[in-house]
Amino acid sequence: MILLCHGDREYLRAPGAELHTDLGMLTVPDDVENGDVLETHLGTEFVARELRGPDLFNHLERTGAPMMPRDIGLVVGHTGAAADDRVLDAGTGTGVLSAYLGRLGASVTTYEQDPEFAEVARENMVTAGVEDRVDVRTGDITDDLDSLTGGEPFDLLTLDTEDAPEIVASAPNLLADGGYVAVYSPFIENSRKTVAAAEEAGLSGVETIETIQREMTFDDRGSRPSTAGVGHTGYLTFARHS
Ligand SMILES: C[S@@+](CC[C@H](N)C(=O)[O-])C[C@H]1O[C@@H](n2cnc3c(N)ncnc32)[C@H](O)[C@@H]1O
Repeated sequence: MILLCHGDREYLRAPGAELHTDLGMLTVPDDVENGDVLETHLGTEFVARELRGPDLFNHLERTGAPMMPRDIGLVVGHTGAAADDRVLDAGTGTGVLSAYLGRLGASVTTYEQDPEFAEVARENMVTAGVEDRVDVRTGDITDDLDSLTGGEPFDLLTLDTEDAPEIVASAPNLLADGGYVAVYSPFIENSRKTVAAAEEAGLSGVETIETIQREMTFDDRGSRPSTAGVGHTGYLTFARHS
């Protein structure tokens, strides 16, 4: 898939597909490449752009609320997620976190309990070009914790589910030595339960952070944090098996 961009407008299309807008019509060439300039029959130019992480956040078909790029950045920074890591993830939801990790070169096994969401996530992994690295499994991850235990250990366990504390209790059985757990929670109550589960499981370096980001505005009068929007997204809890 490729993005066709004109100003603020972006359209996701496959090579060979057509684009019809009020700016005219064009057919995406089969051999389209990043940076190609395509012209509609009305003479409007669109630049073809390969999808990168933020484009996935904006353009993948949404089911479960996706993790925001800034929170994914914190997950990568705090856990050192890298190429060739083995990642166990739940729930898949839209699959934005899984797709980012796949694009890093990690091998991701991700669980989604809603069959329709899982099907959409599989298509999203094709759009992201990571279908070979991200295995979307339909089902409740808690049903498979026993069978996942004893297999090749994971380097990273990423959780974005309400029942994360229950899964964290199994982390020592799932993770390689030095492997990390990262749990995203929209509510602090769930983070507190996650911390208790991590400590009970004997994980080390247990910490919870609130993720806040303030956009700056610069104009003729001066510079200050934007007064629009809320800077808070949620809480991230990290812990390590060692
Ligand atoms: C907030 S979304 C996850 C979004 C995802 N991190 C992303 O970046 O797109 C949470 C998803 O977890 C799924 N879920 C909740 N509990 C689960 C479980 N125990 N096993 C598998 N999936 C689960 C829900 O159906 C929902 O789609």
